[in-house]
Amino acid sequence: MTTTVAEAGKLPDYDYNIVRQFTIMSVVWGIVGMGVGVLIAAQLAWPALNDLWQPFTNFGRLRPLHTNAVIFAFGGSVLFATSYYVVQRTCQTRLWGGWLIPFTFWGWQIVIIAAAITLPLGYTSAKEYAELEWPIDILIALIWVAYGLVFFGTIVKRNTSHIYVANWFFGAFIITVAVLHIVNSIAIPVSTWKSYSAYAGTTDAMIQWWYGHNAVGFFLTAAFLGIMYYFVPKQAGRPVYSYQLSIVHFWALISIYVWAGGHHLHYSALPDWTQSLAMIMSIILLAPSWGGMINGIMTLSGAWHKLRTDPTLRFLVVSLSFYGMSTFEGPMMSIKTVNALSHNTDWTVGHVHSGALGWVAMISIGAIYHLVPILWNRKEMFSVKLVNAHFWLATIGTVLYIAAMWVNGITQGLMWRAFNADGTLTYSFVESVVASKPGYIVRWLGGAIFTSGMLLMAYNVFRTVTDEPKEGEVGRDESLPVAKSV
Ligand code: HEM
Ligand code: HEM
Repeated sequence: MTTTVAEAGKLPDYDYNIVRQFTIMSVVWGIVGMGVGVLIAAQLAWPALNDLWQPFTNFGRLRPLHTNAVIFAFGGSVLFATSYYVVQRTCQTRLWGGWLIPFTFWGWQIVIIAAAITLPLGYTSAKEYAELEWPIDILIALIWVAYGLVFFGTIVKRNTSHIYVANWFFGAFIITVAVLHIVNSIAIPVSTWKSYSAYAGTTDAMIQWWYGHNAVGFFLTAAFLGIMYYFVPKQAGRPVYSYQLSIVHFWALISIYVWAGGHHLHYSALPDWTQSLAMIMSIILLAPSWGGMINGIMTLSGAWHKLRTDPTLRFLVVSLSFYGMSTFEGPMMSIKTVNALSHNTDWTVGHVHSGALGWVAMISIGAIYHLVPILWNRKEMFSVKLVNAHFWLATIGTVLYIAAMWVNGITQGLMWRAFNADGTLTYSFVESVVASKPGYIVRWLGGAIFTSGMLLMAYNVFRTVTDEPKEGEVGRDESLPVAKSV
């Protein structure tokens, strides 16, 4: 048995048990969610696969299963694990909350399993990213309140004078997601598994995309920036490039994001001024987004050479490049004339996955590779070579996915708007589907490559956790420098 740093009396007795539980489930749900992604990608390339086990394996039922599994099961577990870890480490105190802590873990797993059962059975509120029916919504609200209590309770009893910037991002994410979830889910139940939204028509659409866009802004962005602000400096062994920049871009990001949701409803019944306002706010959003990217990447100043030997750091840095790319693409797509081409095409799906695979999944994987040796008191991962192989599989998979979707999206957009001299359409819809097939096959291949990397990670994590520590092995040194001010 090796002694932990905490046991040696150097650090407070952190609660790593909950972090370990969520870390393992991140790997499990990552594989499940992406596996379903690969299946639905195959269904779009080879539609006969829809008939596997009708109606449960219909694309329309599995698609929300994929989005819920990757965003809330995989992404959610990563965020619980990292936020619980970071808030303890940067506040130099054990988690507050007693039974509320395991309640967040078991409650979240019950929500995920309930989603995995009800979505294929066809129970849905039909609101994207908020499909789950009202009993599950109530459970989510309770867990989220418990999560908020644990997180902020820990901040209150901190042993440091200030609150490190990563916690600001996690805190904003927890508060905003609570508000978004509760307001968007208000509904009138008509039976145990059916309810109708409390809002109607355009108001319903506006509230749904205020929710949907800020789910991206706070769940998939602000919270993962929290991860970035802790794990990039730690892994690089460098202080955050600019603490001032982190504060400015935090306030700018959270105050601008909430105005941009209307860009999902361009050319709809939403008042025109609302669409234009959303477009302007989306363009302004480029600045705080790039503020975060620049702060993360510049943290490597003086440590670039580490990229040659450290694949974990490579995951973290490449994720920031994809973050920069998708937050440049998003503002461009929000310009109404560009959106007239991109909307409803695979270009949107490409944009989504440059954010989802390139940014969210890659930074999560980097954080997991950083955490696992610390949590299980090992010097490093079982195989750094496998981490490196995973890095290349993830990068190649992401690039294949998004390049295929760009080609498909622009092809579809141009084919749909092509007119003959007499005003009739040049192409029928089905001709655009036929033209998209090669892209669908490449996207499926990219997704399969990405998911095979996740399987390597599962094996590597399994061996790291279960293998006996080597003779004389001591856990990874936890005193690496973090930001100057911690
Ligand atoms: C191996 C990896 C993945 C594959 C093969 C995959 C595949 C797919 C497919 C085929 C769709 C449906 C596209 C359509 O309706 O035309 C989709 C949608 C979506 N996926 Fe993935 N996905 C993967 C990973 C992820 C991850 C990691 C995330 C999030 C963290 C994610 C988030 C989404 C979202 C948000 C949508 C809905 C997009 C929209 O409505 O425009 N995916 N995915
Ligand atoms: C400055 C930042 C960003 C802006 C301004 C932005 C803007 C946009 C726009 C204009 C659309 C297309 C709406 C449509 O035509 O229907 C879109 C879709 C989407 N974006 Fe972004 N984006 C940004 C960053 C991101 C990031 C970093 C992610 C993921 C991590 C992301 C995830 C999504 C998703 C999931 C959708 C699809 C929603 C749906 O239709 O289901 N976005 N975004």
